[in-house]
Amino acid sequence: MIVTIDGPAGAGKSTVARTLARRLGFGFLDTGAMYRAVALAGLRRGVDWDRQEPLAELAGRMTLQFEDRKLLLDGEDVTEAIRDSEVTAVTRHAADNPQVRSRLVELQRRIAGRGNFVTEGRDQGTVVFPQAACKIFLTASAQQRASRRLADLQAQGETTTLDRVLADQQRRDREDCDRAVGALKPAEDAVEVNTDGMTLDQVVDHLESLVRKRA
Ligand code: C5P
Repeated sequence: MIVTIDGPAGAGKSTVARTLARRLGFGFLDTGAMYRAVALAGLRRGVDWDRQEPLAELAGRMTLQFEDRKLLLDGEDVTEAIRDSEVTAVTRHAADNPQVRSRLVELQRRIAGRGNFVTEGRDQGTVVFPQAACKIFLTASAQQRASRRLADLQAQGETTTLDRVLADQQRRDREDCDRAVGALKPAEDAVEVNTDGMTLDQVVDHLESLVRKRA
């Protein structure tokens, strides 16, 4: 059984999806981490971001593996490196590249296509797993999402302000929604859940009951 969780940045998808997967005894697939890893590889190689081919070629050659809670890029643990703001800033080049997307979509289907998985991203219910048994679209107000992101960044030791996080979030929302392929939008059969004012446990309880009803 596949459960897809899509939604904008900062809606709490990763923590919710991971916790839900653990409760259900399902595997967990963080697809945003894969786009970040391609961007990290591009950054390290110094690819020309104005051209799509070099990054697509790099994505076609690299290996990505999830091991426990770690992401390995060509065998190297990049779990922390992909969260750097420098990587976040260039990840759109991977996400906007149709050839990179088709390679990662194929990989996502190969990883989660057989078995029980909770997959998390932007296009999981619309493009990658249109037949998923349960689709969730997780949202929260812009203010709440930015406050969560600020807390995460501060915990990583980064110094920034709420205004800067809000501006960055607005830009990413626009990029996610305007993307020609794999744009952020709820699948027609997705259940929309707004997490404003809810604790992590409340959100996961709610989603778990939705999944159990569909199972
Ligand atoms: O979720 P996260 O912020 O880690 O995702 C990194 C970037 O990858 C996002 O800004 C989004 O544009 C992109 N992404 C995507 N499709 C997915 C998951 C993430 O385009 N399925």
